[in-house]
Amino acid sequence: MPPMVLNRAREDGSVSEALLISYEKRAEGVGLVVVESTNVMRGGEIATHQLQIHDNRFVDGLGKLASTIASKQAKCLIQLNHVEQKPFRSIQGRHLFQPSAIPVSPRTDPPGMSVGEIEEVVLAFADAAERAVKAGFDGWRFKLVIFTF
Ligand SMILES: Cc1cc2nc3c(=O)[nH]c(=O)nc-3n(C[C@H](O)[C@H](O)[C@H](O)COP(=O)(O)O)c2cc1C
Repeated sequence: MPPMVLNRAREDGSVSEALLISYEKRAEGVGLVVVESTNVMRGGEIATHQLQIHDNRFVDGLGKLASTIASKQAKCLIQLNHVEQKPFRSIQGRHLFQPSAIPVSPRTDPPGMSVGEIEEVVLAFADAAERAVKAGFDGWRFKLVIFTF
């Protein structure tokens, strides 16, 4: 099952009961579930109730999500994401991140990132990957990288 943002996380981005129920149904009869775009760093949200993995406090809920999927005999990956160059509408108007100062649309005129800012995002992905492993997602077992978006 490909990643599809459901907008069913709690307000703070933690795993909700509604999200668990949705994934339990989706995992039935599926070999691999790729959990939706999950935000690795504050400010990189793509939606209002997007799933978050930017802090250790999300690991328990994500663990429940991974075991819910596993209970249906499916493997699970989680899509780690940061969407600064085309953020969700409600956070437009503030500083946007993207590596180079090249506008991607007439609406955006980003200043480009410093090396320090790029390192911050790289570390956020690494920390998020560690949390995904702790939560029990299977991605680290595969020598396969899936690029989407
Ligand atoms: C509501 C919705 C949410 C989506 N969310 C994501 C997402 O979180 N990450 C992603 O990579 N693709 C996302 N997609 C793209 C789907 O994964 C993509 O449509 C799916 O792979 C089917 O591909 P196809 O339309 O080429 O058949 C989303 C699509 C829809 C319709």
